[in-house]
Amino acid sequence: MADVDSRTGTSYLTRPILDYLAATHVPHDEGLARAFTAPCREGLPAIQVGPLEGKLLALLLRLAGAKKVVEVGTLAGYSALHLARALPPDGHLWTIEVDENHARVARENLAAAGMSHRVTVVQGVGLEVLPTLEPHGPFDAVFIDADKVNYDRYGRWAACNLRPGGLLLGDNAVYFGRLLAEEEAAPAMRRFHEEAAVQFDTVCIPTPDGLLLGIKR
Ligand code: SAH
Ligand code: DHB
Ligand code: MG
Repeated sequence: MADVDSRTGTSYLTRPILDYLAATHVPHDEGLARAFTAPCREGLPAIQVGPLEGKLLALLLRLAGAKKVVEVGTLAGYSALHLARALPPDGHLWTIEVDENHARVARENLAAAGMSHRVTVVQGVGLEVLPTLEPHGPFDAVFIDADKVNYDRYGRWAACNLRPGGLLLGDNAVYFGRLLAEEEAAPAMRRFHEEAAVQFDTVCIPTPDGLLLGIKR
């Protein structure tokens, strides 16, 4: 049974096992189901986090006692709904989305789930919107999930705008398997890892495409 494969990088996870785990640990209620299936229905790319990653994000926020959270990359609001539900009643999530149509769909999904009061979907370019959110800071968690070529910049913003003990979270930290390449956003993604490791206590959780987790020193 036990062997070294898991430590050489081989994952035992298969599609049926992942589906079983998601059904067991992250049963979708109406709100989550609606947000998860919205990309298919509305003709958006289906690139939201998986149910297990969404739940992991929520549990991490709860462990950190997060109240004020920023997300970069809303899409249809699936991860935003996980994040928002992890907040206390006086908590708030600001989630940034460049695409007007995605922002509209996300607002509809968050409203349908009764979470509009706890989430502001800010339509705009991540790097331009973030400075406008600074008066609300310092923040308890920042989740980065868009615009891979600028992950290093988002990481630097997070380092400046998180409280000590705050969480840095970065989806696609393995950059679709191209983390060690020279193309496109790979060098920026490596800078994101390397700079985060200096400013935060960090690890990369081996989700299918990696989730960087850092706790601000
Ligand atoms: N976090 C979402 C998935 C986000 S997909 C979830 O898991 O449910 C990435 C989203 O980021 C897309 O909707 C895309 O339109 C948006 N995006 C891309 N570049 C961006 C930028 N520079 N600023 C803000 N949003 C951006
Ligand atoms: C893509 C983006 C993501 O954030 C993701 O988790 C998966 C795919 C993409 O741009 O293709
Ligand atoms: Mg992603």
